[in-house]
Amino acid sequence: MAAKAKIRALVAGNWKMNGLKASKKEVVSLGKRLAPKGKTAKRPACDVLVCPPATLIASLKEAAKGTKIAIGGQDCHAKASGAHTGDLSAEMLKDAGATFVIVGHSERRADHGETDAVVRAKAEAAHRAGLVAIVCVGETEKQRDAGETLSVIATQLAGSLPDGLNAKTTVVAYEPVWAIGTGRTPTVEDVAKVHAEIRAILKKRFKAEGEAMRLLYGGSVKPSNAAELMSVPNVNGALVGGASLKAEDFHGIVAAYA
Ligand code: 13P
Repeated sequence: MAAKAKIRALVAGNWKMNGLKASKKEVVSLGKRLAPKGKTAKRPACDVLVCPPATLIASLKEAAKGTKIAIGGQDCHAKASGAHTGDLSAEMLKDAGATFVIVGHSERRADHGETDAVVRAKAEAAHRAGLVAIVCVGETEKQRDAGETLSVIATQLAGSLPDGLNAKTTVVAYEPVWAIGTGRTPTVEDVAKVHAEIRAILKKRFKAEGEAMRLLYGGSVKPSNAAELMSVPNVNGALVGGASLKAEDFHGIVAAYA
């Protein structure tokens, strides 16, 4: 049997509703840290993505020119255009310079009542526009305490992922809701268990593509715990909130792949 190709990791920053024009300097600083000068310095062995508020996509794209940093959106509408005041389409994000978009983040599921069907339509929109979709799933603390983690994840994956996916254009992010912004993380055993289950579900439905798809862990990832979390089997990178806002912290997480 041929050796399995190693999955290239992705470390993605989700700035959420944070960042003004001046935040451009963080991307400039990150770019410098990712392209170190000198013989001993190593480039990271992972892809790096920053998802700022949509107002900053174009300027951060400009700031990231000549670096390996990709820029993404945090949400998109399912339609390409039309009478949807205040919404942004995947085509618009792409036009502004995005190559990725996060869909189905738990904050959008909670704040905007996004169902699995809505998330699926958004993932389809991302693909229609030529963006990589980062589809988020994760259980609440109540669901976890009730022992429902795996069944909740299975239901979310079944409903949120479009058919016929390929590993190049879809990433799945597991973000336990109770770990987001709390400083709490699951044990590595728990992360391993959930990620193994996600991998099994993806393999069953998408075959080789499911095997090659990147699975990110998100929820209180910091420079101090990144190496441990990123070493868990079937964890192919991180989706980072708070610690992605400062270049130094974010680079400290990227460095888990140095
Ligand atoms: P924190 O890293 O701030 O916990 O946020 C995680 C997250 O929601 C990323 O999408």
